[in-house]
Amino acid sequence: MNILVTGGAGYIGSHTIISLVDNGFSVTVIDNFCSGHIEAINAVSKYENKKIKVYNVDFSDINVLEGIVKKHDINGVIHFAAHSLVGESMDDPLKYYKNNVAKTILFLEFLKKSGINHFVFSSSAAVYGIPDKNPIDETSRLNPINVYGSTKQAVENLLDGMGRAYGFKYISLRYFNAAGAHKSGIIGEDHRPETHLIPKVLKSVAAGKNKAVVFGNDYPTHDGTAIRDYIHVDDLAGAHVLSLKYLIEDKKSKSGVYNLGCEKGYSVLDILRKTEEITGKKLKIEFAGRREGDPAILVASYEKIKKELGFEFKYSIGDIISSAWNWHSNHLNGYIAT
Ligand SMILES: NC(=O)c1ccc[n+]([C@@H]2O[C@H](COP(=O)([O-])OP(=O)(O)OC[C@H]3O[C@@H](n4cnc5c(N)ncnc54)[C@H](O)[C@@H]3O)[C@@H](O)[C@H]2O)c1
Repeated sequence: MNILVTGGAGYIGSHTIISLVDNGFSVTVIDNFCSGHIEAINAVSKYENKKIKVYNVDFSDINVLEGIVKKHDINGVIHFAAHSLVGESMDDPLKYYKNNVAKTILFLEFLKKSGINHFVFSSSAAVYGIPDKNPIDETSRLNPINVYGSTKQAVENLLDGMGRAYGFKYISLRYFNAAGAHKSGIIGEDHRPETHLIPKVLKSVAAGKNKAVVFGNDYPTHDGTAIRDYIHVDDLAGAHVLSLKYLIEDKKSKSGVYNLGCEKGYSVLDILRKTEEITGKKLKIEFAGRREGDPAILVASYEKIKKELGFEFKYSIGDIISSAWNWHSNHLNGYIAT
């Protein structure tokens, strides 16, 4: 099977390519490198002892895509490419709607015309906004509270319509907090700027600063800090392979929307304590006020993907932090240092 991966030079995309290759898929990447790293693709090629085909192209450049899809006889797509900084999405909604929605409409129209009917989409827990209850299941009300989340909901709505109208087969995966790095230590998280808790703290430890800022310590949780659900990036990668296999191989497969979390919540302080244990460094913790729109608790129910696709996560929070530490402590400047 020949799979086109948009955004394959990014964090989750590059980890998923390893899982795809390990499962016998042939992979072609398109990426415009607005936030991805060619070094990630080169590292994966070296690890797999196989050159990963990569095109420096925008996923909405249909003229170029036509040639790529024909040349590589593409029969399935994973669409990671997007902008995903929540704060930036509030400051520049046009940038987000253009890349995440308008371009995705052109891309989906092209896939439909080309008869490519197996599509996996990177959605996000951000579509839920502030949930009424936890764990959150897929029937929970969608009420995004930032532009980024509404762009993901807009694409989910379009996919729902395409499924009903044209029989387009897709799976939308609503990731909770992706974290960790590949066990080999050759690829990991390198977002610029970094906004996620685990890489931010580990980068500070790797730089010898040992600093952590906690936003809000008056939430109604066991220690007053916000609780989130973390999933290892390699578990996410495995879920994409599972989704594609289901869409392609199961003649009775149905389109669907699935949460991807572990149904386990860890507070910010739980994460910081675990980080101290794994790195052996005492953190200087600073408390700041709550950030606007940050809910107290966000934990996924993953019952649906477990029951319908047989997904099971393999990695614990300890595995997540130690694999990320392995990456950050050996790549002080991310991919630039490699
Ligand atoms: N990281 C998380 O915790 C998380 C959580 C929920 C959802 N997501 C979603 O998962 C996907 C991947 O996230 P990530 O953390 O790997 O992000 P990332 O920024 O590391 O990767 C995105 C990739 O897409 C590419 N890209 C963006 N726009 C493009 C365009 N127009 N044409 C071609 N390439 C383009 C970038 O260069 C980059 O390589 C995104 O859709 C994101 O919204 C991520």
